[in-house]
Amino acid sequence: MHIHRYEKYWLGFGFCALVAFIIFMFITAFVNGHHPSGGSEVIDPTHVEKTPPFDNPGLHQTGENEYEADIVAMAFGYKPNKLEIPLGAKVKFVITSQDVVHSFTIPQTTVNMELVPGHIGTKEYTFKKPGHYLVLCNEYCGAGHQMMKMEIEVLD
Ligand code: CUA
Repeated sequence: MHIHRYEKYWLGFGFCALVAFIIFMFITAFVNGHHPSGGSEVIDPTHVEKTPPFDNPGLHQTGENEYEADIVAMAFGYKPNKLEIPLGAKVKFVITSQDVVHSFTIPQTTVNMELVPGHIGTKEYTFKKPGHYLVLCNEYCGAGHQMMKMEIEVLD
């Protein structure tokens, strides 16, 4: 069978592009430890309530002006469903889902985490304005999705 020379070039180019793409995928997926929500740690989603730090959800002081907020997302809410955070404190949110994919989204902030069961998502944030913040789930997760929310009170 006769194949035009340019077609051979294109076949070769296509093959090389495919190989380069696979190598690129491999490097980004494994070498950099890339995972959803930046959390590379994994957890057994069926034993969340027995696995630290999620066996004790809530806000925990970790430094002079630093806190860790350990939160469990579930259909259809968060545990705890209210947090009080001092103004200007650096907060590290550590969150996992115990059932399906949810999100932890605080409108008007940079906090927007996709919560995949089996993964621990982390995000650091410092609230610069006191007041009432609403946390919402923006991943459709079932019949109660619209009701899934929690509150954060930033205290001056
Ligand atoms: Cu959880 Cu939508």
